[in-house]
Amino acid sequence: MLVLGIETSCDETGVALYDTSRGLLGHVLHSQVAMHADYGGVVPELASRDHIRRVLPLTRDILRQAGCKLADLDAIAYTEGPGLAGALLVGASIAHGLGYALGRPVLGMHHLEGHLLSPLLSKPAPSFPFVALLVSGGHSQLMRVSGVGAYEMLGETLDDAAGEAFDKTAKLLGLGYPGGPALANLAESGRPGRLTLPRPMLNSGDLDFSFSGLKTAVLTLINQQRPDVQGRADIAAEFQSAIVDVLAGKSWKALKQTMLKQLVVAGGVGANAMLRERLSASARRNGFTVFYPELEFCTDNGAMIAFAGALRMQKGSKMQRQDGSFSVRPRWDLASLDIPESA
Ligand code: KG4
Ligand code: ZN
Repeated sequence: MLVLGIETSCDETGVALYDTSRGLLGHVLHSQVAMHADYGGVVPELASRDHIRRVLPLTRDILRQAGCKLADLDAIAYTEGPGLAGALLVGASIAHGLGYALGRPVLGMHHLEGHLLSPLLSKPAPSFPFVALLVSGGHSQLMRVSGVGAYEMLGETLDDAAGEAFDKTAKLLGLGYPGGPALANLAESGRPGRLTLPRPMLNSGDLDFSFSGLKTAVLTLINQQRPDVQGRADIAAEFQSAIVDVLAGKSWKALKQTMLKQLVVAGGVGANAMLRERLSASARRNGFTVFYPELEFCTDNGAMIAFAGALRMQKGSKMQRQDGSFSVRPRWDLASLDIPESA
């Protein structure tokens, strides 16, 4: 079964082909980061318009690269939500248009389900069950992943996502967008231990996070100290330490609580070198295995949608109507996911 996957929930247009017997045939991506950089963040209307420009050329590219034709497709999976409404509508309309024209089933996917299953595309792949730490510009979650369609939220952010906290704090420190890599870079010349920022909710007794207070604490420091370059580097280093302490601490708590031995780190913040060092050290000390799927699979991409769609179809998930109408779900709680009986 050959599945086309389309991801347009935020600022990346991703298209991929997954074949249930041959695996991932390929995936292509267009990132809008450069386009949004001037504005310091994603501008939703610009995002939608750019998806419109990219999605069909990318679909043609991936079909050509894989030596396939539209008529070879057995099904089309697309991101139905959550995400930016206008951006989601682009992928949804293309998917339903193709499905209608080709007479093929269409499946609306939950973006987080794509993220949770994408580590299986990587090598080495974890096996079910595992704990997933999903940390990106839009997500900060710890989940127990027991199988396709079997996801349990263990904890999540009560306010800003981890990447969002990096981006906003980087902005306060006068750095560009996206702020995560820039802040991590500046932190390298910071002097550890010069300042102390809180470790929000590290000992809250649950697996939730809160990062917006850290950003406010940084703002207070900047206002009090009027820091020079070295001072800003010191703040960046302490801010990064605080976030990493909380993410690593709660990941270990999640593994203890679930008694699982595999941790998968997904999302753009998973690229952070200090987070990787700290998690790998914790894994050695505490006897668990940590998986860092290739970045191309853990940031937003079409492969995860094609793959999750194929797994869902094999499980007998309901296809969507083909009467030319469709909807998107900008807000969509993973807990309300329609799980087939056999799951
Ligand atoms: O998964 P991702 O590429 O996409 C979306 O969230 O859509 O994640 C992007 C986020 C941004 O907030 C970026 O600042 C953060 O991941 N990020 C990092 C690093 N690289 C990317 N944060 C900290 N350290 C990094 N090295
Ligand atoms: Zn995402």
